[in-house]
Amino acid sequence: MGTAGEGRDASPPEEEFVVTPWEVRGRVDYEKLLRRFGARPLTQSEIALLEKYAGEVHPLIRRGFFYAHRDFDAIMRWHGEGRPWALYTGRGPSGPVHIGHMVPWILLKWLSDRFGVEAYFQLTDDEKFLDDPEMSLGEATRWAYENALDVIALGFARDRLHLVVDTEDIQLLYPVAVRVAKKLTWSAVRATFGFTDSTNVGLAFYPTLQIAVAYLPTELRGEATPVLIPCAIDQDPYFRLARDIAEPLGYPKPATLYSKFVMALTGESKMSASNPDSAIYTTDDEIAIRRKIMNAFTGGRPTAEEQRKYGGNPDVCPVYHYHVLFALDDASVERARQDCRAGALLCGECKLVLYRRIAEFLREHRKRREKARDRVDEYRVSVKFR
Ligand code: TRP
Repeated sequence: MGTAGEGRDASPPEEEFVVTPWEVRGRVDYEKLLRRFGARPLTQSEIALLEKYAGEVHPLIRRGFFYAHRDFDAIMRWHGEGRPWALYTGRGPSGPVHIGHMVPWILLKWLSDRFGVEAYFQLTDDEKFLDDPEMSLGEATRWAYENALDVIALGFARDRLHLVVDTEDIQLLYPVAVRVAKKLTWSAVRATFGFTDSTNVGLAFYPTLQIAVAYLPTELRGEATPVLIPCAIDQDPYFRLARDIAEPLGYPKPATLYSKFVMALTGESKMSASNPDSAIYTTDDEIAIRRKIMNAFTGGRPTAEEQRKYGGNPDVCPVYHYHVLFALDDASVERARQDCRAGALLCGECKLVLYRRIAEFLREHRKRREKARDRVDEYRVSVKFR
């Protein structure tokens, strides 16, 4: 999650992996993480509830990438009663968008379409400015607008997507954020985020803004409108706090739907912006996409001969992981897995299939992205709700 900001606790972890909103380190044990955070696994009965109302289950859920939640079942039941709700997610605009960032947004769009609900999307230029000593505020805001193109390109209707650019739409957020701020003690925020005495006060205040958007639909609509937040599980600390203080503030508790992290092409747990070859950016051309995929780390053996003899390990393989995220049908994913294990599928061939799929996905995406260029303001929440 960008560069390590100043003033955060850098002492070595006791556990074998670390997950905070600022940092993902080590090989993540996702079940253990749930127990640490106190979120719940997404069970078959909750997935059945989703299927009942959505008519189908999105592959990202079916294939286990979204795997945990808080109150997802409550949102489904609330929907079943015909009551209003909204979707919410966001992005810290620290640079260009890579395909890993887009994964939760793809689910956001699907949920918005299937349930006919509005999606709030926060672009936290303030957060990235405060977090990165090298980043100017103007630069962060420019990235917010640039990243918004990737969100709009997913095909949201104008009245179904509300973009919140923190420094530009602050007049809507601020009244909610100060109420949030009054309920949060420094000791709670400090403990939740691992802040220290040298953390700047902007970062100390920032959580109130990420929490505020969870309540914004209720404010704007003037009736209880809980949000469902699809995002990566590292954002849980914000929404744990948001759930704790919702009722005292008169807002419904936000619900969440959590994903695992998108692996880097280098095989690390999470893609990182600091190594451009570890991720595929939405603006990469086909030559770059091909080069990055062909050079990716895999779960394969050092030689084709050994691969045929012993098979590969899809569980540690980013190439397989991207098939899980982007392949159109489940059968091809399962076949790749089995053939890899059996030594019948070699890495070069598997990479080519992935290259074709990603190149096709991004070819369409890039066109829609450019079309969005002059239309970002039309989606901005404060332009619409002025
Ligand atoms: N803090 C997030 C990041 O650094 C950005 C964000 C803001 C967000 N609101 C959110 C992420 C809601 C998920 C859900 O990327």
